[in-house]
Amino acid sequence: MVDEPRTPASGLPLRLAEDDLERPSSARVYDFLLGGTSHGAVDRHLGRELIDAEPLVVPIVRENRSFLRRAVTFLAHAGIDQFLDLGSGIPTMGNTHEVARRVVPDARVAYVDVDPVAVAHGELLLGRTTGVTVSRGDLRRPDDVLGTPAVRDVLDLDRPVGLLLFSVLQHLPDGEEARAVVAEYLSHLVAGSALAVSHLSGDDPRVDVDAVRRLSTAYPRGGITPRSAGDLAGIIAGVELVAPGLVFAAQWRPEPRRVGEPDGEPCCGHRAAVGFVPAR
Ligand SMILES: C[S@@+](CC[C@H](N)C(=O)[O-])C[C@H]1O[C@@H](n2cnc3c(N)ncnc32)[C@H](O)[C@@H]1O
Repeated sequence: MVDEPRTPASGLPLRLAEDDLERPSSARVYDFLLGGTSHGAVDRHLGRELIDAEPLVVPIVRENRSFLRRAVTFLAHAGIDQFLDLGSGIPTMGNTHEVARRVVPDARVAYVDVDPVAVAHGELLLGRTTGVTVSRGDLRRPDDVLGTPAVRDVLDLDRPVGLLLFSVLQHLPDGEEARAVVAEYLSHLVAGSALAVSHLSGDDPRVDVDAVRRLSTAYPRGGITPRSAGDLAGIIAGVELVAPGLVFAAQWRPEPRRVGEPDGEPCCGHRAAVGFVPAR
């Protein structure tokens, strides 16, 4: 066991259990699939097993990051200048604050992840950036997350907030809990706040989700639960979706293909949506 001091800004302690390094983590495997460098041998091993079982996992994670960029850009243009990024993962190219700040230079972002390794990387890479905090928290505990100094210091809950849930709700096996947790966060946000969400689909015939589900049981906190469009629609029912509604991530306001970019069908995997909290 490696004891790390609890940083004043963090919620849960940054203590690494042996399991945290000896078993693959969702954050680090995702980093491997994205071509990052913040992962270990166990993560690479599972990442390669995933690619062997379903080669589409690489375009799937890339499209998820691309959706993040388009959704955050859209929200920043819509006037959102503060973001709560839950299950934010290991910082990689095109982080939320970098994307938002291309539109709103002083946009503020609170990153929260349950994985101590992801948070440690985040604190190293982003911790000194003004208006950006990284803390450890379990999104299933909205009161704890919203009460964490690192989150409270950055977000003004009396003004609209962009709640970001990219590729994380599939880590909650209980759909009713996922719905209740999202509703609880939304209840703390003023009208005009926004939700952007992506979620691994359970009913995309192009993807062998059973293989992904089976291999993901290697994660210490349990495997993932892909969901149908109908189930995801129920989880995010508290917001009014903007066009084009709940669609595959690649179909959400795609950007024009750049010169020289290869043709090909946009891929698959995640469903995605953006919506606003209505006046109550
Ligand atoms: C697939 S990664 C997605 C990272 C990032 N949101 C993105 O889309 O690029 C899922 C992340 O969710 C985190 N996570 C899983 N369960 C969580 C929970 N209960 N609370 C907070 N974070 C969680 C994992 O540690 C991991 O970093």
